[in-house]
Amino acid sequence: MQQTQPEQHEQELEAEFERLVADDQRIEPRDWMPEGYRKTLIRQIAQHAHSEIIGMQPEGNWLTRAPSLQRKAILLAKVQDEAGHGLYLYSAAETLGVDRAELLDKLHQGKQKYSSIFNYPSLGWADMGAIGWLVDGAAIVNQIPITRCSYGPYARAMVRICKEESFHQRQGFDILYTLSHGTEAQHQMAQDAVNRWWWPSVMMFGPPDDDSPNSAQSMKWGIKRFSNDELRRRFIDMTVPQAEVLGLSLPDPELVWDEENERYAHGPIDWDELYENIKGNGPCNAERIEHRVRAHEQGGWVREAANAYAAKHGDQAGATSGQSQERVA
Ligand SMILES: [Fe+2]
Ligand SMILES: [Fe+2]
Repeated sequence: MQQTQPEQHEQELEAEFERLVADDQRIEPRDWMPEGYRKTLIRQIAQHAHSEIIGMQPEGNWLTRAPSLQRKAILLAKVQDEAGHGLYLYSAAETLGVDRAELLDKLHQGKQKYSSIFNYPSLGWADMGAIGWLVDGAAIVNQIPITRCSYGPYARAMVRICKEESFHQRQGFDILYTLSHGTEAQHQMAQDAVNRWWWPSVMMFGPPDDDSPNSAQSMKWGIKRFSNDELRRRFIDMTVPQAEVLGLSLPDPELVWDEENERYAHGPIDWDELYENIKGNGPCNAERIEHRVRAHEQGGWVREAANAYAAKHGDQAGATSGQSQERVA
């Protein structure tokens, strides 16, 4: 067989990658992929993982002040789920050849982002309801299409994450429903939390389509399936009828059913607020990172102990698996 020139070989690999994406097949870690595809995925998965663990803070803030043991147990399970989501996602990112410690360093140094929503403060118990209902609700709309992402490990991680997000949304809805149908003061608490979390949740889908420079390439690669504005519309269409069931209003007087387009029309979004938040000027940006860095430093002894344990028992584990491999061979 004639030897393949390196350039020709590269072209063949690229053609194979394009074919897999066009056929809606999954790209796996062993497969060749363009450098831009790898970098885009690392950036997106890392940002997603960071959002999961930073997102533990606004709710972690209320764990010790939950109004009953049952609410506390539910919220604790939810916050633990978010830590688990972070773990799946850091592991998915590691299949692309980066190290988790390196990604955490970048988060701590402000070189990688997390979702702007977690820079808003959680001021009361009703915020636990609004976060679960709206923020986890928006996350579901965002994440369901990622279960069909062209990169296998990311898509598979998302299947399990989405199942857990459904529970998160239901628990938020349940908190708000209870408050909304309680005393007048409880109803007001629920309404106030929804008033504060609505617009930040609408902004979670990112900038409008005409100001989202990386979207087209991500769509072409099968990483992103729907545009920011399309996902935002889906979220609004899904949420408005739920607000009616809750007996709460959404803080947008222009939110009306658009008969012709069969969707809800909404009022103008304050994009400056989002861009300021992304730049680091949201209400809690500094506080979130400070807390994260402190927790990381204070947890150093746990990582050291885990490494020491692995070093002590790792050889044994290696020897065992080596033996079984020989037997299989
Ligand atoms: Fe999550
Ligand atoms: Fe969640």
